[in-house]
Amino acid sequence: MKALTDELNYHNHLYYQKSQSEISDYEFDQKLKELEKLEAEYPELKLSYSPTSRVGGTITKDFETVVHKYRMLSLGNTYSIEELEDFDARVKKGLGTDDYEYFCELKFDGVAISLIYENGMLKRGVTRGDGTKGDDITNNVKTIRTIPLKIEKPTTDSFEVRGEVFMAKELFVELNEARVKEGEAPLANPRNTTSGTLKMQDSKIVANRKLNCYLYTYLDDTETFKTHEESIRFLEEIGFNISQTYQKCTSIKEVIDYINKWAEERHKLEVETDGVVIKVNSIDHQSELGFTAKNPRWAISYKYKAESASTVLKDISYQVGRTGAITPVAELEPVFLAGTTVKRASLHNANEIERLGVQIGDTVSVEKGGEIIPKITGVDLSKRPETSHPVQYIEFCPECGTKLVRAEGEAQHYCPNQETCPPQVLGRIEHFISRNALNIETLGPRTIKGFLSKNLISNYSDLYHLTYDQINNLQFEDIEDGEVVKRSIKEKTANNILDSIQKSKEIPFERVLFGLGIRFVGKTVAEKLAEHFSTIDKIRAASFDEIIAVHEIGDRIAESVVSFFSNPKNNEIVDSLKSSGLKMEIEEKEGAGDSLKGLTFVVSGVFDGYGRDDLKNLIKSQGGKIASSISSKTNYLVAGANMGPAKKEKAENLGIEILDEIAFNQLLEDDKNRITE
Ligand code: IVH
Repeated sequence: MKALTDELNYHNHLYYQKSQSEISDYEFDQKLKELEKLEAEYPELKLSYSPTSRVGGTITKDFETVVHKYRMLSLGNTYSIEELEDFDARVKKGLGTDDYEYFCELKFDGVAISLIYENGMLKRGVTRGDGTKGDDITNNVKTIRTIPLKIEKPTTDSFEVRGEVFMAKELFVELNEARVKEGEAPLANPRNTTSGTLKMQDSKIVANRKLNCYLYTYLDDTETFKTHEESIRFLEEIGFNISQTYQKCTSIKEVIDYINKWAEERHKLEVETDGVVIKVNSIDHQSELGFTAKNPRWAISYKYKAESASTVLKDISYQVGRTGAITPVAELEPVFLAGTTVKRASLHNANEIERLGVQIGDTVSVEKGGEIIPKITGVDLSKRPETSHPVQYIEFCPECGTKLVRAEGEAQHYCPNQETCPPQVLGRIEHFISRNALNIETLGPRTIKGFLSKNLISNYSDLYHLTYDQINNLQFEDIEDGEVVKRSIKEKTANNILDSIQKSKEIPFERVLFGLGIRFVGKTVAEKLAEHFSTIDKIRAASFDEIIAVHEIGDRIAESVVSFFSNPKNNEIVDSLKSSGLKMEIEEKEGAGDSLKGLTFVVSGVFDGYGRDDLKNLIKSQGGKIASSISSKTNYLVAGANMGPAKKEKAENLGIEILDEIAFNQLLEDDKNRITE
């Protein structure tokens, strides 16, 4: 069985990666069948890297959630050469030299995947998810024939490879032709199809879809490579599928040449691409530049101009969001664009309408970039009909009739009626119960509308006062496709709803804070505020200045937080949540203390007793700070095995104390003793 497994994997690699074959398809199939038969007879001897997993056949009911060892970040985008030159200037300034290189790759428009290899075997394939944790889709990943199940020469026991799963354009067209023939609706585009396919329960269907994957990132704990280029060449060598479109560039000018070269050429590739990813090549330079909250400072993407189409603007409608923001929406003559029919497009705000100078009846150009909602990018004045008329921006909320306001310097109009404007009330509750907030999954917008219409609730804090008698057998009406539908809540559903509301009291404080729906306070900001202030009471007592003092929190957020808590109604709601028993304080992690308070550490290399992240968390839990690169502010460099020599040199030059693992443990012990003494 092992001999057959190895032999078939060898031929598979030859065929799919090198487009060569040493045996006929028939012979290959015969050998595969033989192996399948043996595996059925001796299932306990089936190897994890058996090529039979390529054909699928496993059913996964629920994909397990896996926490990423290294966060899966996204890239900042640029849309013009000027913005790209700004990026280059930031890099130059950050490194303090102009001696650096870039590595350019195309930006593949597919689905990000993380592949974890242990002892040379593909252990797991995980989706990006929210960047911190994703879904384990290993069985589906194994069907992708260009992804090696086993590596012959791994450099370390465990490493991670990241890349983009995609469906070749040609296969996508074929799939759609077949669907239409069968009377099924065509799929929108290769990317969505790939994403849907990877989440299928039956890996046999996944195998039939013949997905492919390009890899572009190598990660391990040992800093094996000095440059990104070295890591890519290594991946190539050990059998990963690397798109042969990359190029090393020694100046931003060469990067621009690369961008121009691929602007048209890229359409000939099998994979859809929407831009270029520019990465600083040296790994030491990368760690010196570090990250912002969401993106690396050492990489950026340049997006090619999106495809556009021309159509007629029939009318403008207005949507009211959960925060009361009004968005004008263009109602268009339907037009086919990049795989889908577009009927509506966002116009963002009144300024945008003014900037475009668009009138009702105009012929406009519509573009679809990476974002789901298309946008209007221009007006063809030569086609303006006599009947066209300027846009009269609304003055009153289309939902509740309240006069709209527009704060100085802001582009958006707002409906100030937070308390009773229906989409705002509903939107805030929907946000509160959403997955990343309080995760009350048994409630949906319909039921909430029902509760609102029966006056059982008027805001999210009222959810915690609902009783079984109130909601069991509750009858309400709902409008679906313009028709009135009668609904009622059954006993079992009523119990489930109350259970999940109860359960949400266990949700950690940072998610409760996010759930409050304060403008501009997204998940990451909520985490930062929670960590800094620890309790809701300290946040509400905080002044504007105290809030902007928090790392990476700016004016706009601080203003919004202060304004939220200056509203007595919001404080009433928070008090009510508090007395219902929701978590309003950050939970102290076990073993927490402040023995390393005021000290800044840089951690590099591998350690015997800790994973690198565990070590960083330990330092943080003791009040220490972690920096990604060495500077004069660094107090200690904690150095494990295989640390990059540049870091060591820099620390020595700056006279920073270097601790090995034993010395670090000693420091920790000494400090703890000092505190307890
Ligand atoms: S490198 C820190 N390289 O673009 C992020 N990403 O917004 C490192 N992508 O999630 C990503 N082609 O799914 C990188 N050649 C390429 C890429 C690429 C496509 C996607 C990837 C990532 C997103 C970043």
